[in-house]
Amino acid sequence: MNSHNERLYLYPVWIRVWHMTNALLCLILIITGLSIQFSNPSTVVKFKVAVSVHNIAGTILAISYALFFIGNLFTRNGVFYVIEVKGFLNRMMAQFRYYTIGIFRNESPPFPVTVNSKFNPLQQFSYVALMYALVPLVILSGLGLLYPEITVNSIMGASGLDITDLIHLAAGFLITIFMCIHIYFCTIGKTPTSNFKSMIDGYHESH
Ligand code: HEM
Repeated sequence: MNSHNERLYLYPVWIRVWHMTNALLCLILIITGLSIQFSNPSTVVKFKVAVSVHNIAGTILAISYALFFIGNLFTRNGVFYVIEVKGFLNRMMAQFRYYTIGIFRNESPPFPVTVNSKFNPLQQFSYVALMYALVPLVILSGLGLLYPEITVNSIMGASGLDITDLIHLAAGFLITIFMCIHIYFCTIGKTPTSNFKSMIDGYHESH
């Protein structure tokens, strides 16, 4: 591993503000979502309260997602989310090998963090899938459930609302799993807390 200490400014203020808001809202949405799902007999949050809080937090999340999307469209942060398809599978495999073997042998990371390359291939893949597929899916299906009048009545004989509900639950479930893995991976920075600090002050610390 590199022996020198490096501090790279990777997370501009708007990303940090979006990320904090987003993480907090996701936690609220997961807790209230589970309380709605398992409402019988009684859960952490009362059903009626859980529904109101879930709807409000979901609406704020949709607005903050729109700001993230616009931010990525108009600033250079969006560049980190553009995948170079050629050889991507091999690069993901190399990173996977590092996470499962290399890291335990104290090898150098195959894709060290630089100002021009802030994500390794596995991070890039998961952040793109999350921010351009799963999160939009959970928001759109959530809007479809909040305003049933805009939801298609039936899809090939099945209830449109049921299918929207299924999509919403599946996407919410996958985002919850992402969040658990995400937080675990955030602990394997220079020190267990350095990556969390980087989302507060903007500076990434390299090994
Ligand atoms: C309490 C929950 C969370 C914590 C502690 C956390 C922590 C972090 C940290 C430390 C980073 C910077 C290191 C890195 O790039 O890997 C990061 C980046 C990121 N996180 Fe999280 N996160 C949380 C929840 C979430 C959620 C719920 C989402 C999305 C639904 C999310 C999406 C992202 C994205 C997209 C980035 C990269 C942002 C960029 O630089 O463009 N995080 N997170």
